[in-house]
Amino acid sequence: MGVFDEVPRLESSGIVTPAAATPGAKLFVVDLGKMRQEKIEPAELTPPYWRYLARLIRPFPDFDLFFVRHLRKRAVEKLRLAPGDRVLDAGCGPGGSFSNLQEAVAGAGLVVGVEISPEVVVNAQRRIQKHGWKNVHVVTANAENVSFDEKFDALLMMGAADIYASPAILANLVRYLRPGAHFAAFGAKFSRRIGAKLINPLFRFFVARASFASTPKVDFEPWRPLKDRSASFHIEEYFFGFMFLAWGELAPVEMPSLDGDPV
Ligand SMILES: C[S@@+](CC[C@H](N)C(=O)[O-])C[C@H]1O[C@@H](n2cnc3c(N)ncnc32)[C@H](O)[C@@H]1O
Repeated sequence: MGVFDEVPRLESSGIVTPAAATPGAKLFVVDLGKMRQEKIEPAELTPPYWRYLARLIRPFPDFDLFFVRHLRKRAVEKLRLAPGDRVLDAGCGPGGSFSNLQEAVAGAGLVVGVEISPEVVVNAQRRIQKHGWKNVHVVTANAENVSFDEKFDALLMMGAADIYASPAILANLVRYLRPGAHFAAFGAKFSRRIGAKLINPLFRFFVARASFASTPKVDFEPWRPLKDRSASFHIEEYFFGFMFLAWGELAPVEMPSLDGDPV
C-alpha cells in the first residue's frame, strides 16, 4: 500500500479520525473549505523535508525528539488543564504532545489536534490507535478556516509558527476558545546572544527550508501576534536563545458565541 492510499481524502468533510465514531464522542464540524475548493494535492500540504521525516518515523508511532520531551511537559503544565477540560493542539503534527495532553485532561476530557497535512495526520492517527486513546481526535484541516461546534479551554501550539505567528489563524482559533483560555507556544526565534548575529540568518534559512513558503519567517519576536491577543504573557528562552516557550491567558474577545449570543 502506497503512502497516499493511507492518506485521508480531502473531499471528505467532517471529522477524519475513526476515533470520532466512538459512542459518546462529540461530532466536530470541520470546514475543509479552502483546501477543497482549490483541490490542493496532499503532497503540497507538506513541506518536502517534513514529508520525508513523516514517512521515516511512521513505523514508530511514539517517536519524538528527546530534547523536546521536557519542553512538551512544561508547555502542557502551562496550560493548567484540569480533568474534563477540552484542549486544542493546533498544528499537532504527528501528535507528539497527545500523551501529555490526554493525561492532563484525563478520561472525561478531550484532546483535538488540527493538522493541515494529510500525510502527517496518518502518523498522528497511528499514535492514537497504538494507545487506544478514545478522547484524542485529529482533524485534517487548515487552522485558518477550521470550525468546531464547541469551545475549548486551552490552546497548544508546539513548534507551530504558522499558527502562533499568524494573526489570521489566531483570529479564527480564538472563536473556539473560552474567554481567558490558557495557551502555550513553543518555537524558533532569533537569538540576542553574543555571536548570534552571524548565526541568526543561517538559522532562519534552515527553518524556512523545513516550513511552508507561507510560514512567517523567524525573527526576534515571532510571538507578537499571540502577545497582542493575550491578557497575560510569559516567555522563557531555550537553546542559547534560539527557541522560546510562551504561555499565558488569552484576552477576552467581543464576539458572538457559537450559539449566536454575545460572549
Ligand atoms: C513543526 S510541526 C510541529 C508538530 C507538533 N506540534 C509537534 O510538536 O511535534 C508544525 C505542524 O503544523 C502544521 N501546520 C502548518 N500550518 C498549519 C495550518 N495552517 N493548519 C494546521 N496545521 C498546520 C504542519 O503541517 C506541521 O505538521
